[in-house]
Amino acid sequence: MIIAKKFSDINLNNFNKLIQNNGYVIIRGLFKKKEIREHLKILRKNFRAKRDNSSNSGGHREIMKNYQKICVGSSSKIQLKEKDKIYRLHRIIYNPIWSPDIYNLRSIFKKFCGLRNQFLNYRYDYATKKVEKKIWSATRILQYPKGGGHMSCHKDFVVSKVNKKNKIKFYQFILNMSQLGKDFKKGGAYIKKNKKIIYLEKFLKSGDILVYNGSSDHGVYEVDPNHKIEMSKLNGRVILMNSFYQTKIKKN
Ligand SMILES: [Fe+2]
Repeated sequence: MIIAKKFSDINLNNFNKLIQNNGYVIIRGLFKKKEIREHLKILRKNFRAKRDNSSNSGGHREIMKNYQKICVGSSSKIQLKEKDKIYRLHRIIYNPIWSPDIYNLRSIFKKFCGLRNQFLNYRYDYATKKVEKKIWSATRILQYPKGGGHMSCHKDFVVSKVNKKNKIKFYQFILNMSQLGKDFKKGGAYIKKNKKIIYLEKFLKSGDILVYNGSSDHGVYEVDPNHKIEMSKLNGRVILMNSFYQTKIKKN
């Protein structure tokens, strides 16, 4: 784990080495826990279940605006082989930086993208204010609801395609809003490294940034499967992501 109050406190060689050796790194202190807990409260208040769309909805253009959907099962827009299918139950709320700030997360997302760009050696505001050479920052909220929210073990192939093409290091950044023990009792993120499963969620607190290599196997264990599911709420595991997306990805 790296503890730092600001980006300049971090040794980038050490950061890269930790990800190479362990497959992930946790950074604590860049966002204050209290600040993120407050934002989570506002997010839950401004959340509306009626904005949900279907699993398979949300084209390239639609998700470049505020767009909310529940993803269930393995169905996807791209035709996949059985072994490549990803099974999940989660809610995605796309909330691009140029869209109306309906969850009061603008400042958090801007800083989160800025930090990602610094870690990856890009200009601080790269691909955040506008699409740059077809690349934009897909700032979004992910919810794994109590009552079985999960994602099966996978590699981030779509993002990897984007990143390989553009020679971006294939790191994924997660900003943890919720916290195991507070918002849910069981489940959450894990990664596979050298055939060993590491249950990452138990190390994470609200405000922590988890960076992991998206080309290694990872997934989300079922969140509180004994709980009755209530999709009208934004409960369970709530995280922010900011992956680079390409405006149009060619089919194979
Ligand atoms: Fe993933």
